[in-house]
Amino acid sequence: MLEKLFPAAPDPILSLSCTFKKDPRPQKMDLGIGVYKDHLGHTPIMKAVKLAQEELALRETSKVYLGLGGNEGFNHAITELLLKGTAAESRSATIQTPGGTGALRLIGELISLAKPNGCIWMSAPSYVNHKPIMEAAGLKVQFYPYFNEKTMQVDVNPMLSALSKASKNDIVLLHGCCHNPTGADLRLSHWEGITELAQKKGFIPFVDIAYQGLGKGLENDAQGVRLLANSLDEIFIATSYSKNFGLYRERVGAAIVVGKNIKEAENAKGCISQLARTTYTMPPNHGAAIVETILSSSSLKKQWHDELNEMRERIFCLRHLLTQALAFRFNDERFHFIQDHTGMFSMLGLSPFQVEALKAQFGIYLLGDSRINIAGLTEDSIDYFADAIKILVK
Ligand SMILES: Cc1ncc(COP(=O)(O)O)c(C=O)c1O
Repeated sequence: MLEKLFPAAPDPILSLSCTFKKDPRPQKMDLGIGVYKDHLGHTPIMKAVKLAQEELALRETSKVYLGLGGNEGFNHAITELLLKGTAAESRSATIQTPGGTGALRLIGELISLAKPNGCIWMSAPSYVNHKPIMEAAGLKVQFYPYFNEKTMQVDVNPMLSALSKASKNDIVLLHGCCHNPTGADLRLSHWEGITELAQKKGFIPFVDIAYQGLGKGLENDAQGVRLLANSLDEIFIATSYSKNFGLYRERVGAAIVVGKNIKEAENAKGCISQLARTTYTMPPNHGAAIVETILSSSSLKKQWHDELNEMRERIFCLRHLLTQALAFRFNDERFHFIQDHTGMFSMLGLSPFQVEALKAQFGIYLLGDSRINIAGLTEDSIDYFADAIKILVK
């Protein structure tokens, strides 16, 4: 039987990391995989996480199964983090999932269940895994224009005009903040335009928010999703704690359903629980227990806020330094957009040939669409990177 299987295509992000590890050049740079790195190029465990782990080790007395919803204390805490102050909080239901990926897949399957052969619209471009996940969940995928390659910003008019064709049978996937891969985020006025369209056309927004706190701050990054949740009867949210708590391998995420009323939201949660039951039964607890411990202790929460702010400010500072380094070499402002983008990523607008040359000639690894992880730069490596760009870009 096994000989009938086709070889699996390598994952575009994870396989790049493997090639990077094998590269013997000392000056090599990994700007591919989306993880936060400090000034030493290291992805540290946050102090708040270390302290919460110590507390958990003392407090935990059993590893017995939890319910299908996972860690309900975590569910409560992260719903508050995301929807605090909205009326929608009282008509929402949350289920813990293995990472943001688990939430995307389970919500995709829930939509498939409710709307067999349903269609989901996503931005062009979008997170590389969005399309395969939604197709695997049984949904048809359609793209709306999002990024203007001349201004390197959101192309809001073509986006809204494409979405005006979406109907009440459609779902529209949006990035809550820190758009992956472009780095170009929706402004509040754009969210208002999308909300109005959703009210008029009846499509249901599905917000993927994997970087809350790493864009413009915890509150600011949630303003789009809060506006939608408050204004509309139904929305879906997939959220991840891989990046803002640095819990990547612990697989911590959640699926949130906002319904017309709490009964419908809870019913949807029940359906998602059943989908999880036939896949992995319940999510791993350790990472979720860490998040819950941090969010329910004022001192740990403050420690986490401080560290998250430090990460965000460091990314902002790296953006500024890179913009300056490129402006100095090109003697113009063509790369100024890097400073205006938010979050870990920026798409640089390089050709596949230039991306390949960065790898082959300089040992600089980035995704094929020229997305770079800004947090993969260090203060010391910016000049090397800017020199390489100057050599390759005319
Ligand atoms: C936009 C977006 N959504 C979801 C995810 C998945 O996150 P997780 O590692 O928690 O599954 C990522 C990870 O890079 C992402 O960038």
